[in-house]
Amino acid sequence: MTPTPTNHINRTPKQQTTELQQPQPSAKKTANDFIFGKTLGDGSFSTVYLAKEVHTKKEFAIKVCDKSHIIREKKQQYILREKEALNMLVNDPYFVKLYCTFHDDRKLYFVLTYAKNGDLLQLIKRLGSLDMKLTQYYTCELVIALEALKAKGIIHRDLKPENILLDENFNILITDFGSTKILKQEPLINNTDQSQSEQVPRRRNSFVGTANYVSPELLTDKLTTHACDLWALGCVIYQMLTGKLCFLAGSDHLIFNKILNRQYEYPDNFSNVASDLIDKLLVIEADQRLGASDSVPYASIRNHPFFDDVIWDNIGGMPPSDSLEKVILDKNEEGDEKDCFEKAEPGLNNRQMARLVGLSMDSSESTLIYDGSVESLNLDNNQTKNGKEDKRKNIADLTPIQIETRLSMQRRSSKYHDLVEGNLILKQGLLDKKKGIRPRRRMFLLTLGPHIYYVDPQTMVLKGQIPWTEDLRVEVKHFRKFDIVTPNRTYLLEDPEGYALQWQQDIEDVHEFYFNKKP
Ligand code: ADE
Repeated sequence: MTPTPTNHINRTPKQQTTELQQPQPSAKKTANDFIFGKTLGDGSFSTVYLAKEVHTKKEFAIKVCDKSHIIREKKQQYILREKEALNMLVNDPYFVKLYCTFHDDRKLYFVLTYAKNGDLLQLIKRLGSLDMKLTQYYTCELVIALEALKAKGIIHRDLKPENILLDENFNILITDFGSTKILKQEPLINNTDQSQSEQVPRRRNSFVGTANYVSPELLTDKLTTHACDLWALGCVIYQMLTGKLCFLAGSDHLIFNKILNRQYEYPDNFSNVASDLIDKLLVIEADQRLGASDSVPYASIRNHPFFDDVIWDNIGGMPPSDSLEKVILDKNEEGDEKDCFEKAEPGLNNRQMARLVGLSMDSSESTLIYDGSVESLNLDNNQTKNGKEDKRKNIADLTPIQIETRLSMQRRSSKYHDLVEGNLILKQGLLDKKKGIRPRRRMFLLTLGPHIYYVDPQTMVLKGQIPWTEDLRVEVKHFRKFDIVTPNRTYLLEDPEGYALQWQQDIEDVHEFYFNKKP
């Protein structure tokens, strides 16, 4: 079939799945409006969780960013750009949709489309490589997505299979706009050598993205144009068809050498039409790359013989491939992942569940409780004995006399008092500590000092303490699982009650009190 005329490129009829997923319109959301489930992905200063909106039961992916980490690493601009780019793309297919954002005193939350079928890298790994039909289909979707980015002046700069998610119909949803550049009408640099075809300014930038997919011009003159994403597209097509990275070596430095020398090879019997397309995208001179100089982007890509039998208007629905059927069958056999919420639910209503995973998100509840009685030193419990909501008290508000009074009560009524060297216990709870194959259940005691002791509750023997230095930090992996990371060891912990986030918050509060900064 011949390609459609490309002067006027029709947008695909792909339906938006977004209306179905729309969170309940209401006042500003908070973390308590969602039940947080398993971790979907980890970034350097964010974690993406599967989450269910309490009222609608709809699933979302919520990206949770740690404010103090962002500020410490001076990444505020990245977050703002990510939000701006996602907002510019809400009505375009093939991108994760940003439904809303909110924040509390510690975290920023991006409520995004949940891509049910993982990412393109997982699909490539599962199948070994993709057949021509499926590769062609995904390349069409990628080209349409890149056209939308180009039209809006957005350069993704980190296009790679891990950032190409797959929705319930196995259509692509590009994500992770943390490295994005948004071109606006700012002064040009290097105006004299500005290519005629490039309608937007080019700027100098530091290296962003992932080594294997980075374009040569980013390595040499650090110039960013939309053609960066075209280079990455070439790498992704190569990877879909071969199952391998196009530029692979033992270090970033060696990878960069290969990129700068265009050093890549095709396996035997590789399709000529596919290699021709890839070769035309992997061109060192950015403005010579296929599509880079199009007056109607990306007409020249659409016109490449690789797409000869494509009806561009028909892209959408389910990708055509027998191999996908096998993936779907395998997935069905693996069982329904909704379990990750259901297991957390028994006995709890939605409101409690939201608290269970998001209870530390509300600033009024985020500090420690010290109401003087040893039983209520469990800081997870916001209810006093008479049922009233406890006003949490900040650790810094404790006067020496109050500490003494509490200590004397602890001395009389806590069986752990002697084991914690007379330090005031701020929080205690049973956690499973993983070491080797078998986790051990231990009573963890967070005390002034600061210390985290752990005791065998059966034998009442102090088993050790987690060395607390300025570098200690807590990483939540799941509503039950969290790690306490110290310079020499990472403690893998699991709260059977599911209050991992609360442990993180309480430890961070104590850390902040002693070290004057959040971990
Ligand atoms: N991993 C990272 N982001 C995701 C998303 N939006 N959906 C599914 N998995 C993800």
